Amino acid sequence: MSDLDEFLEQSQDLLLAEVREHYSEKVVDHWQHPRNPRVMHGPDGHALRQGECGDDMEIFLRIRGGRVTEASFMTDGCLTSIVTGSMAVELATGRNVGEARAISARDILDGLDGLPGESEHCAELASETLRAAVKDYLLSQREPWKKIYQQD
Ligand code: FES
Repeated sequence: MSDLDEFLEQSQDLLLAEVREHYSEKVVDHWQHPRNPRVMHGPDGHALRQGECGDDMEIFLRIRGGRVTEASFMTDGCLTSIVTGSMAVELATGRNVGEARAISARDILDGLDGLPGESEHCAELASETLRAAVKDYLLSQREPWKKIYQQD
């Protein structure tokens, strides 16, 4: 192993140890293996929201027979933005639209076994974005032409 490889490995170990000190194992898992972090082409529901911190959260939904069959997210935010987006799409997948719309920040926080208080607003941003993506889908079902002109 080269000196550079060794240095990188040690840095990663240190970072992981630091994250483990402050966050739950579920947070570590979603940070290391985020669920479906990608742009979805031709989603049935989509929303982009910006938090007060300036981070963007984007959620895409594929919906068949009134059920979320696939959900994905993108964010330019930090670790807690990534894990809350990841948990939001994990919780939404397989749910009917009413259930997906009802997923709250508390559900996301519980799914992650909590976050430090100063990071709880990230779960608010993820749940708000998910709700907006479901609304986008519902709007397109009611009045398809509106989706073309109206940003949710
Ligand atoms: Fe920006 Fe969490 S720090 S949404």
